[in-house]
Amino acid sequence: MREFNNDIIKRNVLGSSIFKDESTLLLTYIPPRLPGRDEELARLSRDYKPLIMEKKAYNINVAITGPVGVGKTSLARLFGEGFIKAIKPYKDVMLFYFNCYSFRTKSAILREITGKHFGISSRGLSDNELLTQIFNRLKNENKSILLILDEAFLLGGNDILSLIHSYESYGFGYSPISMIIISRPEEYKSYLAMQLKGKITDLIQLDVYDRETFKNIIDFRTELAFKPGAISDDIKDLIIDIVNETKNTRHMIEILYQCGKLADMENKEEISAEMVREAKNNVYPVLRPEMLNTLRTQELISAIGIAKRLKHRGIISTSIMESYDYYKVTCEELEIEPHSLNTYRNYIDALVKYGIINKITKQIGKGRRGRRSRLTLFDIPAKVLEEKAYELVNQRLKSEKS
Ligand SMILES: Nc1ncnc2c1ncn2[C@@H]1O[C@H](COP(=O)(O)OP(=O)(O)OP(=O)(O)O)[C@@H](O)[C@H]1O
Ligand SMILES: [Mg+2]
Repeated sequence: MREFNNDIIKRNVLGSSIFKDESTLLLTYIPPRLPGRDEELARLSRDYKPLIMEKKAYNINVAITGPVGVGKTSLARLFGEGFIKAIKPYKDVMLFYFNCYSFRTKSAILREITGKHFGISSRGLSDNELLTQIFNRLKNENKSILLILDEAFLLGGNDILSLIHSYESYGFGYSPISMIIISRPEEYKSYLAMQLKGKITDLIQLDVYDRETFKNIIDFRTELAFKPGAISDDIKDLIIDIVNETKNTRHMIEILYQCGKLADMENKEEISAEMVREAKNNVYPVLRPEMLNTLRTQELISAIGIAKRLKHRGIISTSIMESYDYYKVTCEELEIEPHSLNTYRNYIDALVKYGIINKITKQIGKGRRGRRSRLTLFDIPAKVLEEKAYELVNQRLKSEKS
């Protein structure tokens, strides 16, 4: 073997770091405490307390709503983990978390539960047969389920309702499946509220944090992530100013992470104002990582096409037809067969639904036929969308080939 002696690698791998534990700033990390959310954590606990009762168990479904980055996901997951531990001496509750960006149908969710968690082959089984399998297992093993459905609007009210009612034909007398249903308020109103009316035990509406709470959050999160002395109060204030504008806590977490990375790259032991400014420019809290990760490759390519079209001479919006040409060019570049215009329209609908691109409808003539839809990007710079989507598509194509 060749003698290992590469100074660059050594310095960067073994060198010191400003982080105590950088994994605590990854977006998948659930902190052990959520400053400013104690009240809601207590409320959830009281909501689900009746599940402790052995025989008279019934199902409880709580909805959590609130704007972007106010801790909906973290609250539900932290509660879920704590709850199944607390209730363990009385009852065996299995906790499942599904982000409906990745699991878009009831079947996908049921399949995951039977396959991955119960080890039952789900091939060829209908939803009802899958449910029978799940219910039988729960009955035999004397267990129940707490199901967290994140971005639940993507699943839709009807599917959720049918899950809530599913136990009725299995002679349980009650449902062994309880749920936490998470959605932003507008989507909750448009896609869920009507159907779930009367089925929701409690609706918890999270509000944005105030400045003081952001201060508590940043103190807690920096203590978890960084070594002592890495970040001064002045720098924390600067970050609070930024996040207090967007009200999106994810923004704070991403800035802290990027700052730490910059400090390590520059071999500094303390985060500077310049690093915060640079990090701020690299962070787009509206472009949530799970949004892109779970898009289908064809949807990503469509997004690239639109971004390319919109980058062109800084135009503001594009028609679907115009963007289709850019989609085709992108397919060609990636050596992928382009899909038909009609199929492309479906990809566009999906991108609009997930909030990646925005659709504006203009009335330029009379009636329905006079309406023209234009596509645009409200929040995400076209260049950023293009780069991030390309990166993902390339990764996927590469792993397909290897
Ligand atoms: N009270 C808090 N204390 C500590 N960290 C928090 C708190 N609230 C949110 N965070 C952190 O902020 C980030 C965003 O929170 P989270 O993902 O839970 O928000 P969300 O409401 O689900 O957002 P979205 O609507 O975009 O899904 C996460 O990294 C989370 O750990
Ligand atoms: Mg969330």
